Amino acid sequence: MLRASVLRLLGRPGASGGAWLLEYSGPRHYSSGPLGARDDAGGARAFFTTPIFYVNAAPHIGHLYSALLADALCRHRRLRVPGAAATRFSTGTDEHGLKIQQAAAAAGLAPTELCDRVSAQFQQLFREAGISSTDFIRTTEARHRIAVQHFWGLLEARGLLYKGIYEGWYCASEECFLPEAKVTRQPSSSGGSCPVSLESGHPVSWTKEENYIFRLSQFREPLQRWLRGDPQAVTPEPFHRAVLQWLEEELPDLSVSRKSSHLHWGIPVPGDDSQTIYVWLDALVNYLTVIGYPNAEFKSWWPTTSHIIGKDILKFHAIYWPALLLGAGMSPPHRIYVHSHWTVCGQKMSKSLGNVVDPRTCLDRYTVDGFRYFLLRQGVPNWDCDYYDEKVVKLLDSELADALGGLLNRCTAQRINPSGTYPVFCTACFPSEAGLVGPSVRAQAEDYALVNAVATLPRQVAEHYENFQIYKALEAVSSCVRQTNGFVQRHAPWKLSWESPVDAPWLGTVLHVALECLRVFGTLLQPVTPSLADKLLSRLGVSATERGLGELCFLPRFYGHPCPFEGRKLGPETGLLFPRLDQSRVWLVKAHRT
Ligand code: MSP
Repeated sequence: MLRASVLRLLGRPGASGGAWLLEYSGPRHYSSGPLGARDDAGGARAFFTTPIFYVNAAPHIGHLYSALLADALCRHRRLRVPGAAATRFSTGTDEHGLKIQQAAAAAGLAPTELCDRVSAQFQQLFREAGISSTDFIRTTEARHRIAVQHFWGLLEARGLLYKGIYEGWYCASEECFLPEAKVTRQPSSSGGSCPVSLESGHPVSWTKEENYIFRLSQFREPLQRWLRGDPQAVTPEPFHRAVLQWLEEELPDLSVSRKSSHLHWGIPVPGDDSQTIYVWLDALVNYLTVIGYPNAEFKSWWPTTSHIIGKDILKFHAIYWPALLLGAGMSPPHRIYVHSHWTVCGQKMSKSLGNVVDPRTCLDRYTVDGFRYFLLRQGVPNWDCDYYDEKVVKLLDSELADALGGLLNRCTAQRINPSGTYPVFCTACFPSEAGLVGPSVRAQAEDYALVNAVATLPRQVAEHYENFQIYKALEAVSSCVRQTNGFVQRHAPWKLSWESPVDAPWLGTVLHVALECLRVFGTLLQPVTPSLADKLLSRLGVSATERGLGELCFLPRFYGHPCPFEGRKLGPETGLLFPRLDQSRVWLVKAHRT
């Protein structure tokens, strides 16, 4: 049973914005594992979110990566906890703010036209890439305006907003104020110099305005308590540490509106049309809008929320957002999963450098499953990763075409498995106790190591998902695929004969074990390569209701239980699991030459 988090108000604000003593006292969530939480109704629910994407430019592979990470987490959870009602997953587009206002003006478009156009591109990309979101939000929707204005009203009613002069450098590209120390000068085309953000190199401008200001400074200690009390709140750990480090310093109050004369493309402050709500406040509230806020239904979903975000927006999600939530009387998000960035041939991806990688071209070239596998297998949350085409081809050819596809082929080919069935496992050939000797025993020590590795694989994979290390989950699967190929190679079933009464039981056993391993790999790969896994499992004759993690009981015959697949007809042959890329791709040669 979930207990509401407690926000204790120990004082009232003074006229000068004096101290509210906010104390957030946990525990916050009663988790059914890091990928889910128990809701008020006692059912296991989980809500995953991607960031909402700016519509100033077309999507690139970094955006797709953010969405894929969330998609894989979500799909893995659905395998553990089936039922459409248990998991929600939202994504969308961030359409307001100066950045979009300026991009639309530069393109000679009305902001709505630009938003419609680019939002449709994101929607199409995500559809094509198999992003299994249950909601796509656009911040220009009416439901969102209602949510943002309601949220604003709560902050105001709680005395957390005041009017004041806000002055500082503003970076429209990042939509944030920057302190003097984060600004430098760069030579400009006109011969002079212009101020830019030290970290991103984007231009900044000096802004001085009367705005509404949020009493962020009061939340430093509550935020520290939250993070110290929940070491996994921000995962992986280095990012958690980074946030605590930021909180060592004073937390200045935050300007949360702009003058409408300067920024008209946004949601007006309720009751004061001369001000527009700051785009980050507007954007962050999307996570509430999609679960029905301000209607009460949001309450049963909010405590189960996991945000997937890139490292560049960590401060907004791990400081501003939890502070705003605490201010509005809610708990911070359940988890914030943070990933690093993709660079291209060692350089940051940017329109001006002309090195932006178009994800739709990649999906065409490498197939949807191939490219999903590449990004999730090579993307390491803790560090930036470098993209280049040859790397994709090499990885997919070796792991999907050769290792996994080859293994399937070896066990199902007509030549080796003429009856096209899941053969019988012979316990005398492969007794459950290692080290037995006898005339019929054929299994060797390495074979027991393989069985052990594959038996523990689902748990290992689940742990990697929980720690947001999806690449490690895929590494573990890949290592077991290699081990299984070694097993097949070692026993060379192509040298054994179905006609021989001595060979036949062992031949069947070798194929049975290898097919069982493949069944586990296919099941575990579903969150990352859904179509390829479907093709693999269908070829093995595994029905749609036998693909959940709950049903995944590896090699039951070895453990003395019946196996529902034994003797079953394999599914139809539908061609290579994953055709090799290197010979067939002329564009690669071209890309190499240019
Ligand atoms: N609109 C804000 C987010 C608001 S969420 C309430 C935003 N949008 S974004 O389009 O710039 O970025 C969206 C996501 O894409 C972020 O998680 C960001 O880290 C990610 N990526 C942008 N470039 C990236 C790479 N080069 N590599 C990996 N991910 C990157 O920020």
